[in-house]
Amino acid sequence: MKQRLKLIADEASDYIYIAIALLIYATGVTLFLLPYEITTGGVTGIASLIFFATGIEVQISYLIMNAILLVLAIKIVGWRFCVKTIYGVGLLTIYLWVLQRMVEDDNGQLPHLVGDQAFMAVVLGALLEGIALGICFSHNGSTGGTDIIAAIVNKYKEVSLGTVLMLLDCIIISSSYFVFVGDEGTTKALEKIVFGFTALIISGMTLDFVVNRNRQSVQFMIFSRNYSRIATMLNKQGFGVTVLDGTGWYTRTERKVVVVVARKRQSVNILRYIKIIDPYAFVSMGNVQGVYGEGFDPMKAKIKKAKPTLVFATNNQHKLEEVRKIIGDKFEIRSLEDIGCKVELPETSDSLEGNALQKAQYIKKYYGFDCFADDTGLECAALGGEPGVRSARYACEDGGADHDSEANMKKLLKNLEGKEDRSAQFRTAIALLYKDETLVFEGIVKGHIISEKKGSEGFGYDPVFMPDGYNETFAELGSDVKNKISHRAQAVAKLCEFLIK
Ligand code: IMP
Repeated sequence: MKQRLKLIADEASDYIYIAIALLIYATGVTLFLLPYEITTGGVTGIASLIFFATGIEVQISYLIMNAILLVLAIKIVGWRFCVKTIYGVGLLTIYLWVLQRMVEDDNGQLPHLVGDQAFMAVVLGALLEGIALGICFSHNGSTGGTDIIAAIVNKYKEVSLGTVLMLLDCIIISSSYFVFVGDEGTTKALEKIVFGFTALIISGMTLDFVVNRNRQSVQFMIFSRNYSRIATMLNKQGFGVTVLDGTGWYTRTERKVVVVVARKRQSVNILRYIKIIDPYAFVSMGNVQGVYGEGFDPMKAKIKKAKPTLVFATNNQHKLEEVRKIIGDKFEIRSLEDIGCKVELPETSDSLEGNALQKAQYIKKYYGFDCFADDTGLECAALGGEPGVRSARYACEDGGADHDSEANMKKLLKNLEGKEDRSAQFRTAIALLYKDETLVFEGIVKGHIISEKKGSEGFGYDPVFMPDGYNETFAELGSDVKNKISHRAQAVAKLCEFLIK
């Protein structure tokens, strides 16, 4: 409850600070930038350009442009980003309108408060703009405009907001040349650009100063015999304290080092506390570039979510491509070669499932990756499921080589000679070891073995296998058709369905 109240109070104070900041911003624009025709960046810059070129008041084009950008932003980035932006845009529109009405003369002309000292106007206008934006950003506010564009761009590309904003501002200021060159000539138009960039730099530096002023931090290293009292005292005052072990090298004695990181504005207090306890303490104090963690800033660096890696225990490019295509970019699929595995994986089981599992377990055990492996066999009914798990080595027993497709098919056709039942099926088992789970997916395509080879595509037994519903063998159908209906495609589809889920 207490925390909720604090959150609400913080939010409310944000809104109040943003309101004050935008009033300062509108003052700078109305009193210094508009009367002296100075274009700074952002959508206010574009709106000013429109005003100088057409006389349409700044707040009107500012509101229209922001409304369009906001509709886009709500769709793309979401409501959360937009609430404070809508508040900021609305308030600034009103401020700009009211302030202009308050200060303009009877002809609607804005006053030249600093006479013909245009450069003075640049400095004052930019200072007010920088201070205002600094306060606004420190309280999570936004004046809309290019912030919205930057947030949208940032959603898709890893470009820093600063880079996007700077690029947009440069384009906006440079284009003021075309607005002024017609009426005022090249020199005056160039002068306006120089003023514009000067204002941009001054407001940028002021903004940085305001934003970082409260953020500047220091790190104390305190060497004292009374380290424990100092550490306790600083702790009691609300500072985070760490005590490190050190060795004074001259005396070779153990020393404790008290380390404290704090905001710069608190440094005098810290020194005071130290001095009260040990006026002879040896203290070093250094500026730190950034402090992240509890009580300080959140780390802003974006971490790209790494894709989970899965090893497919194969070096068969054809199988790899097939699986990568179906799984999409949700997983990074690596081959055996990718993980530097050059050994022949064990396949000594008497079942397809057993072999697939054996291969996957080998990778998990020796390489530590989640992984899946497959094994396929051709099973002929008339041969009692032969060659099955021995499909690759079918002809080995008769002196043929491993994976010798020609010899394998020859043996198969010979064994089926005179058999009436030539029905057969390709069966693939894929074993997956994923996190703590072990799963097996199966894919089957039914068909029959024809009496002689047909077709030249594919591999293995493709030229003699004709899938049900087709009048051509796998070797004639080609990879496009085969990849849609094959045993492997079906098992892979089940695997992918599980992984994607
Ligand atoms: P693997 O262990 O998945 O490579 O399959 C073992 C053997 O089955 C291979 O050497 C091929 O002879 C055969 N085989 C596997 N898949 C196919 C296929 O899609 N068409 C034809 N033969 C295959």
